[in-house]
Amino acid sequence: MDHFHLKGGVLHCEDVPLPAIAEAVGTPVYVYSAATMRRHARVFREALAGLDDPLVAYAVKANPNAAVLAVLRDEGLGADVVSGGEYRRARAAGIAPEKIVFSGVGKTAEEMRLVLDGGLCQFNLESVEEAEMLSAVASNMGRTAPVAFRVNPDVEAGSHAKISTGAAHNKFGIPIGEAVAAYARARSLPGLDPQGVAVHIGSQLTSLAPLESAFRKVGELIADLRKAGHDIVKADLGGGLGIPYDPEAPLPPSPELYGRMVADVTADWNVRLIFEPGRLIVGNAGVLLTEVIRVKPGATDPFVIVDAAMNDLMRPSLYDAWHAIDAVTPKGTHMTANVVGPVCETGDTFATAREMDGARAGDLLVFRTAGAYAATMASTYNSRPLTPEVMVDGGRWAVVRERQDVESLIRADRIPDWLA
Ligand code: LLP
Repeated sequence: MDHFHLKGGVLHCEDVPLPAIAEAVGTPVYVYSAATMRRHARVFREALAGLDDPLVAYAVKANPNAAVLAVLRDEGLGADVVSGGEYRRARAAGIAPEKIVFSGVGKTAEEMRLVLDGGLCQFNLESVEEAEMLSAVASNMGRTAPVAFRVNPDVEAGSHAKISTGAAHNKFGIPIGEAVAAYARARSLPGLDPQGVAVHIGSQLTSLAPLESAFRKVGELIADLRKAGHDIVKADLGGGLGIPYDPEAPLPPSPELYGRMVADVTADWNVRLIFEPGRLIVGNAGVLLTEVIRVKPGATDPFVIVDAAMNDLMRPSLYDAWHAIDAVTPKGTHMTANVVGPVCETGDTFATAREMDGARAGDLLVFRTAGAYAATMASTYNSRPLTPEVMVDGGRWAVVRERQDVESLIRADRIPDWLA
């Protein structure tokens, strides 16, 4: 459920007509609905209502905009961060350190120092080598780091290969069969307090079965670790629950079903559960608003050339992702078209042979479900400045990230003196 609806024949975000934003800010522009984010945060929290004080640590990578973090902070969410940059953004937005978990396969000593200094809930370690580095860093600082190992349960998540993470051949986590030895090693090292277990098997998961299978393996591991004398008090079950992109595709499992499955599987774990949802919270809360530059005939279908491109929204070219494309003021006409951007690559294609409302030069369109992994994955390829972001909250709206100007791209480069 989101708050993008037609009112009087014009697509609105909450109470704001999208053409008003296009006129004031220009296109392309990302538009976010605060009410949708709040709603999703609440739905997820309610789905976990049966659990004892779970920590919902929003996966900042999905959308790290400061205004988004502020909305979610006010909903009581913590943060799952994967870099020093994300940690600093979460802290700058006022998220309390004890609500922050630090994930990621390549944490550097510098990032470890930053986060230890500022405080956190736990480090999710991904190798014994990383545990050794953190031990050295923490001991040097005279600190003890709360840690979990992220285990790789070797399950096929059933999502796109580029965003599945829980199979044995993936780079993530330690093999679950080696976990007991890894915890023993961590306990023998100074400066580490192994107190949790973590798992995350992938993103945009459309079935609960692989999650349940991974969680059951984690449950067995917790029992084994306790037998070996470890005091395990936290379990981080990661993120990954999918969201609807295509209204005609089967719906992914609801947060409610997910919550029931988790409550059932973890009933006797006796730990504080942590969750790291990203896409579920912000995915449907954003659109990319774009203008049609022109319509060009094609060999089979015409090309609708829009002013957004693969550098603004990479998901279709990177993962063959499907995003709904809607007219902002639908005319009720029909066309079959290829929707493409201006970038000089055939991969700069948002949709092929798409059935859509008839589009003409100057029309506004939206790519829906562009709140997660969209603006944050943008680049300046083809010297296209980064797209601005707008947040709507009821009848109010504000630019929450300015459009980058080409001058700043040019200024960031240096011509060495021998070429000047
Ligand atoms: N926790 C960890 C350790 C993760 O790696 C991720 C996502 C999440 C939580 C949040 O997963 P979510 O609830 O959002 O599914 N760029 C890709 C998605 C990459 C996901 C990376 N990790 C896309 O556009 O589909």
